[in-house]
Amino acid sequence: MKKIIALALMLLMLSSALAEGSLIVYFSHAGENYNVGVIEEGNTAKMAKTIAALTGAELFELQPVEAYPSEYEAALEVATAEQQANARPEYAGEAQAWEQCDTVFIGYPIWWGHIPNIVYTFMERYDFAGKTVVPFNTHEGSGQARTQQEIEQLLDSATVLQGLALTGSTAQNDETATVQAVSKWLSTIGIDHTEG
Ligand SMILES: Cc1cc2nc3c(=O)[nH]c(=O)nc-3n(C[C@H](O)[C@H](O)[C@H](O)COP(=O)(O)O)c2cc1C
Repeated sequence: MKKIIALALMLLMLSSALAEGSLIVYFSHAGENYNVGVIEEGNTAKMAKTIAALTGAELFELQPVEAYPSEYEAALEVATAEQQANARPEYAGEAQAWEQCDTVFIGYPIWWGHIPNIVYTFMERYDFAGKTVVPFNTHEGSGQARTQQEIEQLLDSATVLQGLALTGSTAQNDETATVQAVSKWLSTIGIDHTEG
């Protein structure tokens, strides 16, 4: 009998832990990038990993099936063509345990004032009803641009919290400032986290 009660308690704890699941979905472009030279890990990827370290959320990177060129100018051309064609580039794999996940961070660099098309591929594929969505991005001058509103409009069945924009060079080169900014932001929007 004791064993059954212990098992039931374990299952209950597991299900409540899963119900509070958080996921960080992000796209980021490594290689040659504006203001930071050639980088091994993208700026948004670094920001995503800081959020993961502070919140314990799972990471899911949107990795394009067809990789973007490493060279900055060539990447700009592909991004322009995708935006003009309103393309929905495919990514590899899928997010796990979507149903159990109640908070979804969505991270991206600003590309020509917008969210890269591959992030739309993801956002249009999933049902966000009842989820809490938390945007974050890196940029080199545009801040969030209008991406907060774009996400609020597209994911209107979700509760969208105020996002955070960091300059790419800060995310890339200044870990202390990144941790401080992310930690302060998480406190402001009421997301549980360690102080970093
Ligand atoms: C195709 C492309 C377009 C960009 N457009 C903008 C822009 O409109 N505004 C801006 O502030 N930064 C722009 N940037 C700079 C990136 O947003 C910035 O470098 C970002 O940190 C890159 O993040 P990542 O390394 O995660 O890809 C652009 C970069 C690329 C490659």
